[in-house]
Amino acid sequence: MPDASTPSTPYVAIGGEAGVRALVDAFYDRMDVDDAFAGIRALHGATLDNAREKLFLYLCGWLGGPQRYVERFGHPRLRARHLPFPIGTSERDQWLACMQAALDDAQVPTPLKPKLIDAFTGVADWMRNRDG
Ligand code: HEM
Repeated sequence: MPDASTPSTPYVAIGGEAGVRALVDAFYDRMDVDDAFAGIRALHGATLDNAREKLFLYLCGWLGGPQRYVERFGHPRLRARHLPFPIGTSERDQWLACMQAALDDAQVPTPLKPKLIDAFTGVADWMRNRDG
């Protein structure tokens, strides 16, 4: 029997669109000010507006909610889109640490955090495109 107290998707568990927006805002706010993430911040342009909007659209679908990114831009081809940026273990680990801090900053429900970090770890590792 499905348990009515268990949210159906991570998208619902995080609080829908507002929850995803809060997480993405916390992620890029952190990246912008925290020296620990200066390496990956430098890979982005002068403003983070484009990255912020695209990650929001992407995560809505990735978390099991509406496929907003796909509706607007088609298949994400995420690894190909990251090829212009040198991503090794340092960049992967910075991205994941920044996301871990954002999960705390955005007050994502505690039981959801390790599940999301697990899932993000797979995607971030797959994004590596150079040794080191
Ligand atoms: C592993 C380390 C990663 C680095 C260093 C990185 C860096 C970047 C950079 C520099 C951009 C371009 C932003 C711009 O256009 O201004 C970008 C775009 C993007 N990233 Fe990442 N990223 C990483 C991992 C991830 C992961 C794990 C996800 C998803 C869970 C993700 C999702 C996206 C999306 C959706 C875009 C927009 C793609 C588009 O242009 O349509 N990235 N990323």
